[in-house]
Amino acid sequence: MNFKLKNIPSQKGRIAIVTGANNGIGFETTLAMAQYGYKVIMGCRNQEKADKAKAELIRKFPEADLDVILLDLSDLASVKKFAKEFRERYTKLDVLINNAGILVYSGKKNKAGVELQFATNHLGHFLLTSLLFDMIPDKPSSRIVALSSLAHKGAKIHFDDLSCEKAEENDAAYGQSKLANLMFADELNRRLKDSGRQIIALAVHPGGSDSGLFDEMPKVTYYTFKILSPLILNSNSAAAKPSLFAALSPEIKGGEYLGPQGFQEFRGKVGFAKRTDYSKRKDVAEELWELSEEMTDSTFL
Ligand SMILES: NC(=O)c1ccc[n+]([C@@H]2O[C@H](COP(=O)([O-])OP(=O)(O)OC[C@H]3O[C@@H](n4cnc5c(N)ncnc54)[C@H](OP(=O)(O)O)[C@@H]3O)[C@@H](O)[C@H]2O)c1
Repeated sequence: MNFKLKNIPSQKGRIAIVTGANNGIGFETTLAMAQYGYKVIMGCRNQEKADKAKAELIRKFPEADLDVILLDLSDLASVKKFAKEFRERYTKLDVLINNAGILVYSGKKNKAGVELQFATNHLGHFLLTSLLFDMIPDKPSSRIVALSSLAHKGAKIHFDDLSCEKAEENDAAYGQSKLANLMFADELNRRLKDSGRQIIALAVHPGGSDSGLFDEMPKVTYYTFKILSPLILNSNSAAAKPSLFAALSPEIKGGEYLGPQGFQEFRGKVGFAKRTDYSKRKDVAEELWELSEEMTDSTFL
């Protein structure tokens, strides 16, 4: 793959949603998408942070065409409200970048009693995609992009313990949610192809970057991370490249998994990323889809 993002023609007239657009990788993705001509709808959970980010984006790129709609992915009612507002303001959606995420396991649950990482990182995005799916034009340039992670590698879907309360690893819930992102993209793409549609779904991982994701870590880990990160990790703008490639490249066919190709896949040029055999299991992806339909009370495809 030798695609150059700079060869992309203006995308004026096209509409994208980026969730978690106010910070880190989502902020940089929004900036780049706006620079390519997209109108970007920033799905953010905090109005003040979103307004501040929007102002900063416009300072960096004054022609940026941006809109903020409040979205708390951990709360299905908020996802429904976002979808309703989006429908009232727009008539189509060309690119959906399901970017927002939380990393640190708190053991907390949402109002419906679902563990917060699974609820935020996966279920909220499943429902969002489901509710807006019919607004996506049936073309290969229409994209649904999931942000997975290297953390999917040690993970499995704990169907009998979704909160990961019995899991031994500290990062089981985050790994599970990022694996769910990857497997949702696969299953979505399979269903798109099976139904004869041209819309493309795929997953990416950004490598590692010093974003807000690590702010809630225990202090010792946090400061060690802050010292080491410039030596081994991506900048947030470099970490946005796999998402941009997935959203914009005409070479993408659907079902790919993209990420940086350098040392430990932490950073480097974008290419096909490594993934576990478990993450390729169609039976698990199907079961996850059915469970997600049930938990969000929403069906599509
Ligand atoms: N950075 C990395 O090294 C890395 C590695 C692998 C994968 N990723 C993935 O990359 C994506 C972006 O993360 P990041 O690194 O850019 O982290 P970040 O700087 O913390 O940004 C995460 C964004 O998600 C938003 N968010 C969190 N919970 C939300 C909710 N309930 N509803 C709506 N928005 C919510 C945050 O909003 P607030 O500002 O209001 O908190 C923030 O805008 C995530 O999916 C993450 O798992 C990152």
